[in-house]
Amino acid sequence: MSSPTPFRWLRRPGPHTPPGEPGAYTPSGLSYGADYNPDQWPREVWDEDVRLMREAGVTVVSLAIFSWARIQPTEDTWDFAWLDDAMDLLHAHGITVDLATATASPPPWLTTKHPEVLPQTRTGETLWPGARQQWRPTSPVFREHALRLVERMAERYGDHPALVAWHVSNELGCHNVYDFSDDAAAAFRAWLRDRYTTLDALNAAWGTAFWSQRYSAWEQVLPPRLAASHPNPTQQLDFKRFSSDALRQYLRAEAEILRRVTPDVPVTTNFMVMGETKGMDYAAWADELDFVSNDHYVLPGPQALDELSFSANLTGGIARHRPWFLMEHSTSAVNWQPVNVAKKPGELARDSLTHVAHGADAVCYFQWRQSAAGAEKYHSGMVPHAGERSRLFRDVVALGATLRDLAPVAGSTQKPARAAIVFDWDSWWTSELDSHPTDRLRYRQEALDWYSAFLALGVRADVVPSATDLATYDVVVAPVLHVVPAGLRDRLTAFVEAGGHLVTTYFSGVVDQDDHAWLGGYPGALRDLLGIRVEEFAPLLDGESATVELAGEQLEGTVWTEPVDVVDPDVEVLGWYKTGEQAGRAAVTRRTVRTGDGAGSREGSAAYVSTRFGRQGLVPVLARLLDDAGVRSELPAAVRGDVELAVRTDGTDDFWFLVNRTARPVEVPDVAGDVLAGRRLTASGTRAVTTDGTAEGTAEGTAGGALLLEPRGVAVVRRPAEPTPPR
Ligand code: GLA
Ligand code: GLA
Repeated sequence: MSSPTPFRWLRRPGPHTPPGEPGAYTPSGLSYGADYNPDQWPREVWDEDVRLMREAGVTVVSLAIFSWARIQPTEDTWDFAWLDDAMDLLHAHGITVDLATATASPPPWLTTKHPEVLPQTRTGETLWPGARQQWRPTSPVFREHALRLVERMAERYGDHPALVAWHVSNELGCHNVYDFSDDAAAAFRAWLRDRYTTLDALNAAWGTAFWSQRYSAWEQVLPPRLAASHPNPTQQLDFKRFSSDALRQYLRAEAEILRRVTPDVPVTTNFMVMGETKGMDYAAWADELDFVSNDHYVLPGPQALDELSFSANLTGGIARHRPWFLMEHSTSAVNWQPVNVAKKPGELARDSLTHVAHGADAVCYFQWRQSAAGAEKYHSGMVPHAGERSRLFRDVVALGATLRDLAPVAGSTQKPARAAIVFDWDSWWTSELDSHPTDRLRYRQEALDWYSAFLALGVRADVVPSATDLATYDVVVAPVLHVVPAGLRDRLTAFVEAGGHLVTTYFSGVVDQDDHAWLGGYPGALRDLLGIRVEEFAPLLDGESATVELAGEQLEGTVWTEPVDVVDPDVEVLGWYKTGEQAGRAAVTRRTVRTGDGAGSREGSAAYVSTRFGRQGLVPVLARLLDDAGVRSELPAAVRGDVELAVRTDGTDDFWFLVNRTARPVEVPDVAGDVLAGRRLTASGTRAVTTDGTAEGTAEGTAGGALLLEPRGVAVVRRPAEPTPPR
């Protein structure tokens, strides 16, 4: 067994720079590890831990995440001895530490002495201690105590040779993003004053002429607590923006201390780009960090793998396509779903490598050793209750070896796709507010369904935050882009006028940044660009659907329809409603936009999909739109849908990750390049390809020919980098 390379973030000269900026940290190798909670175990277990970590190829652990009560047992006493011991032990075994600031969960003495740090729900109930994260993001008392701990941690461990990164708190906002306490009310007012300056401006933005809501003094303004009816929508939206910002400011407060005391140690915190976790606008948070980290857990269901890939892809977009750190995922079952399913053979490695495929340079789990006590004792770890003599631990060891084989991938970045899906927190928050045409609309689900359609067609698409520069893309899909301020409208218009192909859907363009309707007909801000006009929405009741004919196929639309009027002569109707109230009207349209003439002329388009087709129905819709835009799959036709392709590049080499999404072996014809992970299918049968420099492995690896993907297997192939053609 080759020994693991310890993880190190290489420091580039210069002060703190956000991800994507020159000077940001770049990693020296793929990292492997977990949250490590030695404080849950007797000391003798630690020796076994480090022995098994070596065996598994672990290079980094996140330490002390929930250790505040152990480190500071009372307000005036500190106990670092055990943590010194753990740091030294890990260092002695070549394992580096992503050290937590330990502030995630305040100790009982603090919440007993200062119950005013406990969060309150919208109905005024207190969230008591007994679980975790029982603190108000805006509490000055909590902040004072937590920052004191951060300072102590930084001073004590800043020079420790095992330390490679700081891990601020843990999953900020997981349980406490929305606090409606008086502290929150005061901070909300301060945030609003900063945003609006005058009360008149706030009254205008919130539309307080409605329902006698006009404020005549700042003290009257509150968080949207339980009210008699629907709270003001702009108040709700601003409270979401504020709550995300409040945690971000807290993150910054910790990071400022760390950067002052230990300017050379990179700072991260673990995001939760995953499922319906929507309270934190991570696209805005990324700038606070030296490198982005994410936690992801597989959500069972028909789109489980699509969702994993979508989240990993979006994390890369948030990290501005720099390598990021998979801080947590699970080796097998979790403990917090209604039914917690164990991973099937092959899934442990495939799930991890799908994150690497989308730019993760680390594969870390929650947690190293499965707890014997506490609420997470049925949550899997790298070392299960069964111990090292288990399939799970053998799989963990095998993945460690694969990650060493993939060392050349480290530091490479997501290779831009020709298509992108735009993801926008303002639209997510606003489109799902109450008192809307339907409460059945799900923003992230719609975006995920488009992503599923891309996967089914075998076409790569980046998932990017809405502030991303779209100029490099040929096709941009912006599903339910509900909030469109004038600036965003102008950017999208410029994209189309430069020859880009925009696709958007129902309930897009409808409101501005204050959640005020754009007047004159829907889709509001995007009406002219799309060349259509809608006078009234026509959402569908549960069980209702409308048939749409598109490219010779009959598709079912649900949730939403609209009477679309085509008003621009350059609009072509791609799909027609055949049944229901809209029968005979346009359902899917596309306006061709020509600019310039002669050699400098460009032809872009703006397409509109007025109903919800779902992940399967979108496949022919997307196929038609991609075809017209000239965007094709890079995969052989036979494997599209069964295999996901993700590509990383370092400029010299491209790394093709081929992920088998099925439970059977899949043969991928004609993939040239060096096989870093996986097997080639040879005329004489199949055999493993080694990458440790043996002539045989290299010779066979470089040959072209077919790849054989094991059931749920992943192959990684290194090929000379192909330039991305500019549009
Ligand atoms: C989150 C937390 C961990 C643990 C896992 C369980 O990611 O950060 O502390 O609770 O969930 O899945
Ligand atoms: C959220 C997080 C998970 C886990 C659970 C525990 O869903 O995203 O990682 O921590 O909470 O309740």
